[in-house]
Amino acid sequence: MSLDTASQPTADRPVTALAELRAQLTLEEKVRLLVGAGLWDTTAIDRIGLRSVLVSDGPAGVRGVDESGRETSASFPAPSALAATWDVDLADEVGAAFASEARRHGVDVVLAPQVNLQRTPVGGRHFECYSEDPVLTGEIAVHVVRAAQDRGVGMCVKHFVANDSETERTSYLSRVDERTLREVYLAPFERLVHEAQAWSVMGAYSGIDDGTTAAPALEHRPLLTGVLKDEWGFDGVVVSDWVATKSVAAALEGGLDLQMPGPDGVWGDGLLDAVRTGLVDEALVDEKVDRVLLMAQRVGALQGHEPAGRLRDEVFAVDVPAVLRRLVARSMVVLRDDEHALPVAADTVSRIALVGPNAVSPFVQGGGSAYVRPDRTSTPADALAAAFGAEVTVHAGAVSRMLPPQLDLAGRCRTPDGATGALVEVLDADGAVIDSRVVTQWHGWLREPAEHAASVRIRTTVALTEPGHHEVGVGTVGRHRIEVGGQVLSTGEKVVGAEVILDSSVNAPAPAVLTIEVTEPTTVLVDALVQAVHPVGYASFARAELVHRTPGTSPDELLAAAVEAAAAADLAVVVVGTNEEIESEGYDRTSLALPGTQDQMVKEILAANPRTIVVVNAGAPVLLPWLDEVPCVVWAWLGGQEWPEALGDVLAGRTEPSGRLPWTLPANETDVPVPHAVPVDGVIDYHEGVHVGYRSWLRLDRTPAAPFGHGLGWTAWEHDSATATLAADGGLTVDVTVCNTGPRAGREVVQVYVEPPAGSPSGDRPVRWLGGFAVVHAEPGERTTVPVRVDAQAFRTWDTARSGWVTPPGTYRIRVGRSSSDLRHTVEVSHPGSSATDADSSSGTTARP
Ligand code: BGC
Repeated sequence: MSLDTASQPTADRPVTALAELRAQLTLEEKVRLLVGAGLWDTTAIDRIGLRSVLVSDGPAGVRGVDESGRETSASFPAPSALAATWDVDLADEVGAAFASEARRHGVDVVLAPQVNLQRTPVGGRHFECYSEDPVLTGEIAVHVVRAAQDRGVGMCVKHFVANDSETERTSYLSRVDERTLREVYLAPFERLVHEAQAWSVMGAYSGIDDGTTAAPALEHRPLLTGVLKDEWGFDGVVVSDWVATKSVAAALEGGLDLQMPGPDGVWGDGLLDAVRTGLVDEALVDEKVDRVLLMAQRVGALQGHEPAGRLRDEVFAVDVPAVLRRLVARSMVVLRDDEHALPVAADTVSRIALVGPNAVSPFVQGGGSAYVRPDRTSTPADALAAAFGAEVTVHAGAVSRMLPPQLDLAGRCRTPDGATGALVEVLDADGAVIDSRVVTQWHGWLREPAEHAASVRIRTTVALTEPGHHEVGVGTVGRHRIEVGGQVLSTGEKVVGAEVILDSSVNAPAPAVLTIEVTEPTTVLVDALVQAVHPVGYASFARAELVHRTPGTSPDELLAAAVEAAAAADLAVVVVGTNEEIESEGYDRTSLALPGTQDQMVKEILAANPRTIVVVNAGAPVLLPWLDEVPCVVWAWLGGQEWPEALGDVLAGRTEPSGRLPWTLPANETDVPVPHAVPVDGVIDYHEGVHVGYRSWLRLDRTPAAPFGHGLGWTAWEHDSATATLAADGGLTVDVTVCNTGPRAGREVVQVYVEPPAGSPSGDRPVRWLGGFAVVHAEPGERTTVPVRVDAQAFRTWDTARSGWVTPPGTYRIRVGRSSSDLRHTVEVSHPGSSATDADSSSGTTARP
């Protein structure tokens, strides 16, 4: 990366109306504009008609900015589900739904989409990403962002860049060579700047070592300023990830524009002084203020300045739940359906056994900042009963959650004074009680204890009535002392601060647990002293997971009941999956196996009733060791609030599950090319280079359980022919004729892959990569021709020595098919190529329509 293209101060550019506005501001005001006013808002300056710009997460809905926890939102399917539709029209609808939800919540900028790549299947935020492929990711994201911004709502594309896993997420350095960055990890961001004019980009927690500069992402001047702003012409705002800013001068000069949250933190405390003492140049501050003002103008936060959205009045016309229901139904991927079990004719089922831990408690959203409190919840049992008019019985069949559930304060607990619930006392540093309350509901957090609170003490007596094993305990973070039944189970002296918000310990603190064997009803006292945490920007909190596992039914008993029900039913629908303990921001997975006893459950239900459909309720890949034995398996994602009804639509034949995998499904753990992302001495080495996802599987000649792009739908397709025409710009149009040879109307995803000219150095260019795709709908027997566009960029490779794109000339093989491995036609195209000095690739800028 070259540094010599750094931003010039705005003074060198033509004076605009916004620059004139900026000229009216004092230095103090300008600095305040570069630091959040609070957790989700920027600073307002009334005298220039500037109100706060409100921002909100995130990729699976718009959570809103009310921190009371009462605000509800439409809960979208996890983004991988949208990518699995490969449908840019649906991506437009999702963009419109984001705009509608944002307006409903008074939000100006949505902190989404996440266009990091699924480099490893264990990545904790895998479900939040679209795909392991940069072309699919970029294409879907461009449509989402354009559609939202056309309606006047900004999108904040995240996390720039190479922030693809969670372990040590605030400190690791991703070591990625320049070519890999350009061709793979920067590629979606580049398209979002050029094709969607994204109004803001979020800089990552992690850092990047591109071979020339190793620095935290927010301080990486060659990438943030050199590439994003100067080379690509990004005119929006670079926002820090929350509490990610580590320096004043290095981040300011690196390219960060807006520190979030505020008003304190590194910039809040130090930026003004740094300008006053000449440590940083005021011209840099001005350039950033112009960006913040432009974003404010675009979203309509600046009086007297025309906003950018053209369709503001239409924003509420979107029927968001209907869009989400159609989206999640279509996104479901039929992994196999040997006996054409789908759809299920309603008149063939009067009794359905619905089995599995995720049938009882579906997991419809991953954990972390993507979580929204859903507008509505429903159950698969009710949805299937409605879809089929059948009797549906529900059976857990297996155990999959490892942590004990929440303690039932209202049902079995008393305070020391005998009242129902727990006594919660907030203490100052001397141990004096400054606040006290009795609670009958506790969801793991005490929000906003006083600023001078040092700790929180929780006391309750738990009634243990059922004979057998009970587990009672508390999980927390920071300094603590946990006592249960008079035994000190855990103590800790480490005082934690803002950083704790960002790692897994807050999301899932492992509880210290006492196991008690009960023969006669008894009680046990829980006495927990936990730290009050005062993080920068976020509200103060105390964290305590109060847990209790009752003796309950054993896994064997659960399974036996489910098997009996399956045997007596016309149809068994088994819902297996992950849960909130497994898929979340803040930590990566440690195993790809389905948790608990689910694999055994699948086998036994199938043995009891051969008419079994298995539904996988997970975001990221899990191993399905029984995949070859079960005749019908559907991958059903983390589907958001409409998931149960959408499942009913798919099984009962209302909507085709026409999804195709946006990633590779491994058959076993040892085959996975990038099996983990654990930093070594703080560094994650992107050793596979440009061979991300399926490209590595192909290069290593390994066979997954299902390849990238796979999905059967519920009809059959023939690909009759493919012809390719090279365009003057170096791109390609591939006309593909397909025929729906099956019994039902359906949707086919025509996929076009590019293979390099023979003789390309092995290990250099991938074996094959996605060039373009299109979705086509056809009635039974209908034959249709669809043009698939392959951009000129698909042929280019980054020439590091010359800092530019080149297209090696030669004969490329264009492979057309139904997945990255199911290829039906090959067309050879002789490409004239181009070099880094040609017009289309000079200065490293990609020319795009
Ligand atoms: C996440 C971001 C998110 C932000 C605000 C961070 O922890 O990495 O994706 O937008 O929090 O919630």
